[in-house]
Amino acid sequence: MTNAEARRPLHSSLLSLLLLLPSSFLTARAFLHPSFPSLSSTRMQTPTGRRHRTEGVRMAVGAKGEYAVTLLPGDGIGPEIMTATVGVLEVVAAKASFKFKFQDALIGGAALDAMDDPFPDTSLQACQSSDSVLLACIGGYKWDKNPREKRPETGLLKMRKTLGLFANLRPAKVLPQLVSASTLKPEVVSGVDIMVVRELTGDVYFGTPKGIRTGSDGEREGFNNMIYKESEIRRIAQVAYGVAEKRGKKLCSVDKANVLDVSQLWREVVTEEGLRHHPDVALEHMYVDNAAMQLIRNPKQFDTIVCGNLFGDILSDEASMLVGSLGMLPSASLGDPRGPGVFEPCHGSAPDIAGEDKANPLAMILSAAMMLRYDLSQPQAAEALEAAVERT
Ligand SMILES: NC(=O)c1ccc[n+]([C@@H]2O[C@H](COP(=O)([O-])OP(=O)(O)OC[C@H]3O[C@@H](n4cnc5c(N)ncnc54)[C@H](O)[C@@H]3O)[C@@H](O)[C@H]2O)c1
Repeated sequence: MTNAEARRPLHSSLLSLLLLLPSSFLTARAFLHPSFPSLSSTRMQTPTGRRHRTEGVRMAVGAKGEYAVTLLPGDGIGPEIMTATVGVLEVVAAKASFKFKFQDALIGGAALDAMDDPFPDTSLQACQSSDSVLLACIGGYKWDKNPREKRPETGLLKMRKTLGLFANLRPAKVLPQLVSASTLKPEVVSGVDIMVVRELTGDVYFGTPKGIRTGSDGEREGFNNMIYKESEIRRIAQVAYGVAEKRGKKLCSVDKANVLDVSQLWREVVTEEGLRHHPDVALEHMYVDNAAMQLIRNPKQFDTIVCGNLFGDILSDEASMLVGSLGMLPSASLGDPRGPGVFEPCHGSAPDIAGEDKANPLAMILSAAMMLRYDLSQPQAAEALEAAVERT
């Protein structure tokens, strides 16, 4: 998103739109949104009331009167867009007769400054005791030269790992009014509606051994380990099939099986999972280099894409750019059914405009809408929020 896109009056016009919505629209009985992935396994209830299934990502807490939500404002523009989002959420909640109990916690550079840890245990405990977590963004120039363990991103990776967030859902949907925002031709992007399902806790980002060492020839070498267990592939495949089943019943699994052993296993397991449990979903395999080209050449061929952490990191950003603006893109990270999901915008902390009152809160607000739908069983409130954003 460019600075020119930052539109300060958005927050107040959103609030006015929400106030105009009839409360009956928001108070009707909560139902699970049809696009939400559902997997055929046993439904369970945790002691805290969190309903979930024994497999997959459906883990809504169930409609109730008050939801505990941990807010992680992070760095840069994070506190600004979080404040705007909380204001909008409070209006939606009042209309729909439920309440939020918000608590702030630290992550990223703010946590490093206060506690010398990018994701302290107190923040983890706050998240674990919540129904859901809203995260703004982390990072900034101040911490750029820190060693790896003292960098804001390390806090993000630690949070994902400790909360068991293994599935990241990133929609890339081109709205008719934003077709011209894309750098691609209107006929290429018009109607694009892709969901990228990215594995989030494995792969080369977490694989060991890793490091920088000096070889026997005296030259330094850096190394990481691209590794996936079968169970890790299977559970992300289950999520992706569940998503695809509720969308266009088309799944494209991305790998590099012509070169990488880890990708050969990925391909085998994704195929097996489909044959066993999801014969109604058309599965296609694509090498990552081809997928990167096809996303630009003919993005409408894709419905749901599933990939590992590294390929998904790159392709989900590429898919985002079809939409034309990172500033409109929300995301959901889901996983361990005993814990909360984390909802965050795709953009970074925009340190170049932090504190200047220029930050656009729309991606953060759309992330809050995903939270309402996927974690809090308030899909109609989510729809109200999304409709207000679309009309803004
Ligand atoms: N998940 C995260 O928290 C996350 C993701 C990406 C980058 N980062 C971090 O953010 C910092 C900045 O990274 P970057 O500059 O590459 O990406 P960025 O997304 O922060 O900024 C890119 C450009 O978009 C603008 N922008 C972004 N969000 C905006 C918003 N809501 N409203 C108005 N303008 C907005 C910025 O001003 C900048 O010009 C880095 O420290 C990076 O590590 C964090």
